[in-house]
Amino acid sequence: MNWSPDKTQVKSWNEWDTLRHVIVGRADDCHIPPEEPALDAKVPEDSDMRGQWGRRPQETIDRANELLDNFADMLRKRGVRVDRPTPTDFSKPVTTPDCMPPRDVLLTVGHEILEATMSYRCRWFEYLCYRPLMQQYWEEDVNFRHEAAPKPRLTDEDYHADYLSEKIGIEKRLKWTAEKFFVTTEEEPLFDAADVLRFGKDLIVQHGFTTNLKGIEWLRRHFPDHRVRAVNFPGDPYPIHIDATFTPLRPGLILNNPNRRLPEEQREYFKKNDWEIVDAAQPAHNTPPPLCYSSTWLSMNVLVLDPKTVCVEASEIYQMEQMDKLGMEVVPVDLRDAYAFGGGLHCCTADVYRDGECEDYFP
Ligand code: NVA
Repeated sequence: MNWSPDKTQVKSWNEWDTLRHVIVGRADDCHIPPEEPALDAKVPEDSDMRGQWGRRPQETIDRANELLDNFADMLRKRGVRVDRPTPTDFSKPVTTPDCMPPRDVLLTVGHEILEATMSYRCRWFEYLCYRPLMQQYWEEDVNFRHEAAPKPRLTDEDYHADYLSEKIGIEKRLKWTAEKFFVTTEEEPLFDAADVLRFGKDLIVQHGFTTNLKGIEWLRRHFPDHRVRAVNFPGDPYPIHIDATFTPLRPGLILNNPNRRLPEEQREYFKKNDWEIVDAAQPAHNTPPPLCYSSTWLSMNVLVLDPKTVCVEASEIYQMEQMDKLGMEVVPVDLRDAYAFGGGLHCCTADVYRDGECEDYFP
């Protein structure tokens, strides 16, 4: 059945087919969470984020919301249906950082939206922001499958204490990443939705801080008709969320972060199916904006609107230039001042509907 704006339908099999319906996050009441194991392991030792928590300054919340609203309006003007989450009260004793990055929590695979387990304690309740929308989709689309992965216990057993020393240093971090020794243990299945990229029949999943091997195995058992493949990026000292590392743009073309290159043996799978993996352009900035958890590589955290059109953050001139050379029409979007609230253009959205069906790109 074709998509129509008057009828809710949930369906999205990949990262690039024509986008018709999307969720764009909000920054309302966003907090920097207090210290906890998995989150601390992600914050660089010299970061201005260390030791800071509490509600983010109101003027930064307002600015982030202004940018997110503008992004949502632009998408609406292009004919995309945009829904927004409902913020919950994040100042309660158990806090969650924000409801800005829907991509971290919600994994859309075909007609299903799956709530991830998450791996930070502070993000345990984040799915609640999306429950009103999930309920609405469920009422309106009889084919929609609303699923939730088992909520993890997130006891101390879930985290390697070794990662919690103040001064691990980059060298040791890189060694540990190369050895696939991450802050999370294999106590129970853990995954964040943003570690998963959808390539039709294949789900490509980053094994790192936020997704463990049991989480990947859980996904494999949950999606028996898919091939679930684990990937690693040894050059990343803080390996969380795949979408500033590996960015598919259209069938046959992926950008890879040149500092976090996919190892040769894992490239084979893509190569032998005629996929080209190109080094992404350098970010335009030397540092992330203040109080931002993410790296400057949010430059490649883009939202593909269709196989020829891509939204890129407006200050990322090198990334825009590269997209242009790769034959993509670029839609610049001002979002940098909202990065601190959970990431870039891919992070702050979650697919509800894209055209196209489940293809096998790796036959
Ligand atoms: N690992 C990522 C997360 C961004 C979505 C980073 O580069 O910070």
